[in-house]
Amino acid sequence: MGRLRFLTAGESHGPALAATVEGIPAGLPLTAGEIAVDLARRQRGYGRGARSTSIEQDRAEILSGVRHGLTLGSPILLLIRNRDWVNWTRVMQVEPLTDEQAAELAAMAAGGDKKATPITHLRAGHADLAGATKYGFDDVRNVLERASARETAARVAAGAVARSLLRHVGIDVWSFTAEVAGVAYDRAGATRTREESEDSPLRCPDADAEERMIARIDEARAAGDTAGGVFEVIATGVPIGLGSHVHWDRRLDAALSGAVMSIPIVKGVEFGLGFEQTRRFGSAVMDVIEGRDGAGEWSRQTNNAGGLEGGISNGQPIVVRGAVKPISTLPRPLPSADLVTGRPVEKGHYERSDICVVPATGVVAEAMVCLTLADFVLDKFGGDSLAELTDNLARHRERIAKGPISATSAVSTVSTVSAAPGRAAITGAAPAEGE
Ligand SMILES: Cc1cc2nc3c(=O)[nH]c(=O)nc-3n(C[C@H](O)[C@H](O)[C@H](O)COP(=O)(O)O)c2cc1C
Repeated sequence: MGRLRFLTAGESHGPALAATVEGIPAGLPLTAGEIAVDLARRQRGYGRGARSTSIEQDRAEILSGVRHGLTLGSPILLLIRNRDWVNWTRVMQVEPLTDEQAAELAAMAAGGDKKATPITHLRAGHADLAGATKYGFDDVRNVLERASARETAARVAAGAVARSLLRHVGIDVWSFTAEVAGVAYDRAGATRTREESEDSPLRCPDADAEERMIARIDEARAAGDTAGGVFEVIATGVPIGLGSHVHWDRRLDAALSGAVMSIPIVKGVEFGLGFEQTRRFGSAVMDVIEGRDGAGEWSRQTNNAGGLEGGISNGQPIVVRGAVKPISTLPRPLPSADLVTGRPVEKGHYERSDICVVPATGVVAEAMVCLTLADFVLDKFGGDSLAELTDNLARHRERIAKGPISATSAVSTVSTVSAAPGRAAITGAAPAEGE
């Protein structure tokens, strides 16, 4: 990340989660209420467990960077208190344990309180084994407290700040559930509006497919198993020109895929037609460019590229899909091994768990996409205040509506028509070797 940075902190059963968002310009309207909308969306979804639906009920407090409802340009500190903390004060205590407190914990463990018992039965599909080995822990709780996807609540809060910025520059980001356990939504059957999809159990635009997805989740639950799937994130209103082809680390597609891939449980990312492109000939994949209309908008017949070409946003909606693996913690745990003895055990540790989190992961992915797009918007258009940023962006939109001729005329007196970037492809001039 460049202009916009964020860091999260906090353990799953600690006192709170926090996020620091740095680089948001001054003058952006921001309230805890709008952050709460996304936090609530992350907690919903058919297949989620008790913690997310009843215990958490997240709300972020804004502790810095905002005055009288407007950002100040200074770091924004967000705090989400863990409501379950009251039950974990001794187990997750920050201060060293006194002898008395250590004895109290030991007594809790001896009395069968699982919270107080060191976790050594490893769970496959979690950071348990690799994390504990890497950091030299003999209690997996020291790993799972941070590796837990509870952390994604802090990302969603940070993402809501970025979303607010994007809204003011005309960019909208939304996601829906596209697939669960092999049941895919059908584009033709996706007749629900966005609002209707949001209100549906799986945030799916296809009612018929959703019913079958729910049946798959029920099937998994009945078998003591879990289910994965695919979410799709769509960003509209993204101007041409975010990211760059000139360097690997300036490509917007690379940044977006890294951001989405960083979500625990995401195992694959694709844009537009994604891997399906590999099964078709080129003529059935490339998005034919039809021309620029009177308002300066370029039109295409399709958007198989998912809004990105050469690592740059091309003005089409950005479409990112993420593969969500089935939840690792199974209600009917798999056999495993003990961290300390190294010997096989009958079953891995069981921590209260969800059955399917595809809708929630879509919301987390929205946050990661918002944060990444906001970073690239700020990188390209700058501005210390929202007014400065929106002015810069408006000038860019005006300029690109006129075409590349005006972009080069400011620095060159030679005929810019044939030299202008992008011209060759449109007029059919010979491309460079191998392109
Ligand atoms: C919103 C959300 C909720 C999750 N809930 C659970 C859960 O209840 N149980 C579980 O085992 N994994 C859950 N996960 C996934 C694990 O956190 C993740 O699989 C684990 O940390 C290992 O990371 P990896 O899958 O990226 O390798 C959830 C992920 C997300 C995004």
